[in-house]
Amino acid sequence: MSLPVNLAVFISGGGTNLQSLIDAIKAGRLSAKIALVVSSRKDAYGLERVRGEHIEAFVYRPKDYPDEEAAEKTLLAMLEKYQIDYIALAGYLKLMPSLLIGKFRGRITNIHPALLPKFGGKGMYGHHVHEAVIAAGEKESGATVHIVDEIYDHGRILLQKKVDVYPSDTPESLAERVLSVEHQIYPEALQNLIKGNI
Ligand code: GRF
Repeated sequence: MSLPVNLAVFISGGGTNLQSLIDAIKAGRLSAKIALVVSSRKDAYGLERVRGEHIEAFVYRPKDYPDEEAAEKTLLAMLEKYQIDYIALAGYLKLMPSLLIGKFRGRITNIHPALLPKFGGKGMYGHHVHEAVIAAGEKESGATVHIVDEIYDHGRILLQKKVDVYPSDTPESLAERVLSVEHQIYPEALQNLIKGNI
């Protein structure tokens, strides 16, 4: 693998983490080229962010294919077409097919809006995470970048950063504080992973 590596970013929504990766690449902080953005929704705002950036976008919805195998084969063919080296999940709300996890073992990352292993696992996404953190009376939360394996929010932790939780916090105010930390650590963790593997 040579630098810059080819990165695919998977999104389902606003894509602010995708934006932080685009910005880090432009600033020379991430030795990657976003060769493909995969979205599970055709109306994801993140798709707007790649317009004018010369980044290919692909809307991937398994229900558009006759069966699971056909869907996964199509996705894999797209990743091969764009010679993808690494996959960064950035707010992607669908399960990664195990076929892909096997093919890209150790080269798929995810960002989670809490300090894993706390507040992770099935159903722990978006506002649910921040609600649970506040309900548990936690004094701190944060963001975690980790390797993706077959179990939700389980793989090796690459980088974490903490934020304070205030008594006055709402899930929205906490989400905002955590998100700004996500934007710092995702490019940094990816750069470390890429450099370490070369
Ligand atoms: C982030 O909070 C991320 O941790 C989680 O989903 C959210 C995505 O936000 N996995 P965005 O689409 O990157 O703005």
